[in-house]
Amino acid sequence: MVDAINVHNLTKCYGNLLAVDHISFAVRQGEFFGLLGPNGAGKTTTIRMLTGLLKPTSGTAHIMGINVVKNPVDVKKQIGVISETANPYLEMSAWDNLMFAGSIHGMPKGRRKEQAENLLKLLGIYDRRDEKVEKFSKGLRKRVTIAIALVHDPPLLFLDEPTVGLDVQSARMIRELLRELNEQGTTIFLTTHYIEEADILCDRVGIIENGKLVALDSPENLKAAGREEKIVEVSFDSYVRKIENELAQLPAVNMTKKRGDKFQLYTGDPSRVIQELSKIAEEKNLKIVSLNVLTPTLEDAFVELTGFSSLDMERMEQIGRLKKIKIKGG
Ligand SMILES: Nc1ncnc2c1ncn2[C@@H]1O[C@H](COP(=O)(O)OP(=O)(O)O)[C@@H](O)[C@H]1O
Ligand SMILES: [Mg+2]
Repeated sequence: MVDAINVHNLTKCYGNLLAVDHISFAVRQGEFFGLLGPNGAGKTTTIRMLTGLLKPTSGTAHIMGINVVKNPVDVKKQIGVISETANPYLEMSAWDNLMFAGSIHGMPKGRRKEQAENLLKLLGIYDRRDEKVEKFSKGLRKRVTIAIALVHDPPLLFLDEPTVGLDVQSARMIRELLRELNEQGTTIFLTTHYIEEADILCDRVGIIENGKLVALDSPENLKAAGREEKIVEVSFDSYVRKIENELAQLPAVNMTKKRGDKFQLYTGDPSRVIQELSKIAEEKNLKIVSLNVLTPTLEDAFVELTGFSSLDMERMEQIGRLKKIKIKGG
């Protein structure tokens, strides 16, 4: 079976800036693939090259075996694309949006109607098909956008950061929908800067940073890369100045992070760290309020692989929703 996506040394320069730097990977048909990276990493540039919207500086991309640069029209028949800014026509109803999109693809009227009905039902907006989209919430508009991208029944769906700016519930609905589409056979390629999103949805994740693909594997394998290390998370009943420095200097501790009122100590030897912690608590007359040993998450693997400072991660947390992946019994 031909690869859904095959990319070889794909590169894009904007003047002196190497936005995408010789990336190579393949996505199998039926796969749910995520390109994960911080803002500015090159995700949008990559997806635009894969969907024929932007010409690569060098390298090749094939979609279902078709060269994107040489046969953009044939590629467009194989793909649905949801860009970050894609929107339905607000002054039109959901139904008319789909009819219009179908006509652009040259679909006969009967087929268009059939597809519109199927998709609107699948996406849970059939009952509201005759309302103008402007009355819809952001989450519902996104669903209409997805329906439009699927109207010609493409085997491969591209989505650039599909849940950015959506409320938690809409984002969850979109994720469930994507999972369902994938179960029905659609190959999915999405970009995201939400580590949790990549973790819960994707069969495989490519991590992109500074235009380079720095890792590519299943979320579980990516996590396993950092599995030797554990995190001892502790909080005390009161704050002592400079305690973080002291914790960082404990012999078995490799790295510390402050998370709210908790300190996270990265270590290969959690039981030793716990002993040291109770010593410190005693010396300083502190009570330990909570103490947990956690297994590193995909977030940690991401930090390790990209060499991202915790400051960068903090910045990402501030702008949004980099949520900690909770691992039970870690
Ligand atoms: N049209 C453009 N002209 C010049 N630089 C650009 C252009 N588009 C993107 N860039 C730069 O290329 C890099 C990658 O951008 P982008 O692909 O949008 O990243 P991401 O989608 O991962 O946030 C960034 O440094 C960005 O500023
Ligand atoms: Mg982007």
